[in-house]
Amino acid sequence: MYNINIAIDGPAGAGKSTAAKEIASRLGLKYIDTGAMYRALTWKGILKGINFDQSREIESLTSNTVINVEKGAGGSNLLYLDDIDVTAEIRDPAVNRKVSLVAKNSRVRDMMVSQQQEIASNGGVVMDGRDIGTNVLPGADFKFFITASLEERAKRRYLELKEQGHSTNLEEVQKDISLRDKIDTERELAPLVAAEDAILIDTTHLSVEEVIGKMVKHVKACIQAGSI
Ligand code: DC
Repeated sequence: MYNINIAIDGPAGAGKSTAAKEIASRLGLKYIDTGAMYRALTWKGILKGINFDQSREIESLTSNTVINVEKGAGGSNLLYLDDIDVTAEIRDPAVNRKVSLVAKNSRVRDMMVSQQQEIASNGGVVMDGRDIGTNVLPGADFKFFITASLEERAKRRYLELKEQGHSTNLEEVQKDISLRDKIDTERELAPLVAAEDAILIDTTHLSVEEVIGKMVKHVKACIQAGSI
């Protein structure tokens, strides 16, 4: 419906993907989950049994690897790794524990960022991740940075994992998220940080509908006012 690009960044479990998916559906845009792309590559590393402490082994994953993002049921993404559907596998807790190590590798980021820029080159996407507003789409028409307290984010992720049938506990999930936050925020390349011109939304005490409502209202108001 609109030929705009929307960048949504924030830490794990803040509610980015739920909001991004719904906003894309309400505005007729394509939803792209960039975290899922890093997860797919991490899954390949797990299958190949690489040593994630060796950057050279992580870099080897970028050769002869094809990652495709397709639209799935309910507007979610289907992730294909070398033509195999890995949508379910990339949510495995084993991937959660290694993905930040993969995402901080410069060759991996180069590969991902250029593919993401290509996907968004004709406009019409809602892209969520960590560096979309700062690095992938610095010229995006709209930028949002979504946060929530660590406890709230851990609770949400825990419930999500439980629903998907993974056996885990809240304490473990909170520890994983906290470690991922640390690596994502402190890494040298494209660290997790809000773009200067991003709109900040703390979702700790907001319902999903309140978050989405705020964002869609803002986008529509700007379009109507002709300010983009
Ligand atoms: O959003 P997520 O939990 O699926 O992201 C998985 C990991 O990928 C996370 O540790 C951060 C990283 N990531 C990134 O570095 N840049 C992005 N644009 C998206 C995700």
